[in-house]
This record gives sequence, C-alpha cells and structure tokens, in this order.
Amino acid sequence: MHVLSTRRYPGPAFDELGDVEVFPLAAIETPRPDIEGLIVANEHVPLDLLPSLRVVANFSVGYDRIDIEACAARGVIVTNTPGVLDNATADLAFALILATRRRVVEGDRLVRKGEWGASWAEGWIAEELSGSTLGIVGLGRIGSAVARRARGFELEVIYAQRHRIDTDLGEYRELDELLAEADIVSIHVPLSPETVRLIDARRLGLLRDGACFVNTARGEIVDQDALVAELVSGRIRGGLDVFVNEPSVPGQLLDLPNVVLTPHLGSATRQTREAMTRLAVDNVLAVERGDLPLTPVLPSRA
Ligand code: 8YV
Repeated sequence: MHVLSTRRYPGPAFDELGDVEVFPLAAIETPRPDIEGLIVANEHVPLDLLPSLRVVANFSVGYDRIDIEACAARGVIVTNTPGVLDNATADLAFALILATRRRVVEGDRLVRKGEWGASWAEGWIAEELSGSTLGIVGLGRIGSAVARRARGFELEVIYAQRHRIDTDLGEYRELDELLAEADIVSIHVPLSPETVRLIDARRLGLLRDGACFVNTARGEIVDQDALVAELVSGRIRGGLDVFVNEPSVPGQLLDLPNVVLTPHLGSATRQTREAMTRLAVDNVLAVERGDLPLTPVLPSRA
C-alpha cells in the first residue's frame, strides 16, 4: 500500500511502512490515485484529491479536523491514538496546574530579571494545592489520569461531564456548579460540535476569584476572547497549552504574569510520541492486510 505521511513521525515503527512518502497535504494540488494510506496529525484530508484512499491513520487522539462522516461515506477507515497519550497529557496538565497555582513561571522571570531581592517572604505567596478543589471537565481517559495524580497532591476532585458515572475518582457536579466551586479547573473533553465554546463568557464568569484555569484539550472549547479578557483583568490565572488557530497566541497574553503558555505539548514525550507512531503504523498495516484496525474512529462516535 502506498502511504503518504505528512511528516516523519518519531520512532522506529515508522520504518515498518515499506512504501511511504513524506509530504505535506497542502502540497497536493492534483489528484493522487496512487495513495491508499495516509498518516496525518489531525489535519483536513482532501478526499477529492485522494480517490483510492483506504485508511487515514491519525497521529492524535483528537480528530476534530477530520471529516469522519465524509470518510465513512467513501469507505475510508479513520483511526486515532487513544490511550497511549493519557499519562503524558495528564502530566502536562499537572505541570500547568502546579506552575499556575504556585506561580512558578512568574518566579522564574523574577529571578532572571534580578528582582528576587528581599521581597520573597511576603511578595510571592501562592495558594497550596493540598486541600484545594480540582474541577475536571471531562472524566474520560485523560481526565481520569489527572484525577489519579490529584490524589497524590491531596486535592479534592470534582468532575463534570455529560453523564454521571460510577467512580471513586471524584464527585459529580453539573458544569456550572463545578466552575463556581473549583479552585482549579482543568479541561479534558474532546472538541466536537457539542463542546465548541462549552466554556463561554457566562461560564468563565462563574470561576472563583483567583481560580486557575488549565486547558490541555483544545482552544476552541473555550471562548478565547472572553478567556483573554478574564486573564487580562487578573481575576483568574491560566495555564494554556492549546489555542484557537495554533500556533498563533493572543498577543495580550504574552506579557501577563498570571498566565503560563506552552506550545501544545500535551503528548510531547519521546515515549508517547513513539507509541503514537507505533499505533498509527499498526493501524495502517492492519488495513493493508485486510484486518480490522486497532483503534478505529467510528462515525457514530464522531
Ligand atoms: C497532537 C493532540 O495532535 O492527540 C491529540 O489530540 O492534540 C496531540 O497529540 C499531536 O501532538 C500532533 O500534533
């Protein structure tokens, strides 16, 4: 099977793709009937230019930029990479929770500017993690991994999601209740038509003064302009790994002391990225053999 991969994805599994060409999708201008397999990182797939396509292996758990219904209508199998990136993404969420709650990056900037001085005792007081309430929006695989980490930090965990589940990882709350109650809010729902701007201006207004708002899911889940306004006002703190229109970041955020910014690093560990490549390649190879893919995205779940 001739495979087009939009980059050389990391790890040894990539070399198991025999017939592979590395090429950005945007560079395809005329139909390519030779391409049967595709590896992308949550990118729009130009189906009209790929008439023989059989499988799209998405190097990402999120597939919000892939038209699952259109692929299904053409008999194109879509796969993603669930599970293998849960720990890495939960770790990053926790890094942002710790950094925002304990003012780590602010302190780093202060030291570098030579402004440590004598102000440490009263000037850089933050809020403790233990005993604080962590509100997890979306207790799926990644949200659950965050909740498990929260136990070690002695956080009280509450969660909101479409359906209450039987779990000892946290107590269920309606979303509005969670936002009003939590000291720290961490977003872990997938981006879908139902979750676009799930956290709108009204809901951001429910956050407690001084709350930490952490997003490692997708920028579009939050009304970004309203979030920027809340952060600029200094009322809340933010730890943001994802943005609308990445890699652009709202300019107003760049100089704010109460915001920590990272460049979509959720799954960016060597182990996880290599496991994502392994899974994407195994999905392609399964389809090539005529077997069922390991981790298909089904249209009904899209
Ligand atoms: C990125 C992600 O897609 O899995 C997801 O949903 O957002 C990430 O893993 C990955 O870093 C490739 O850009």
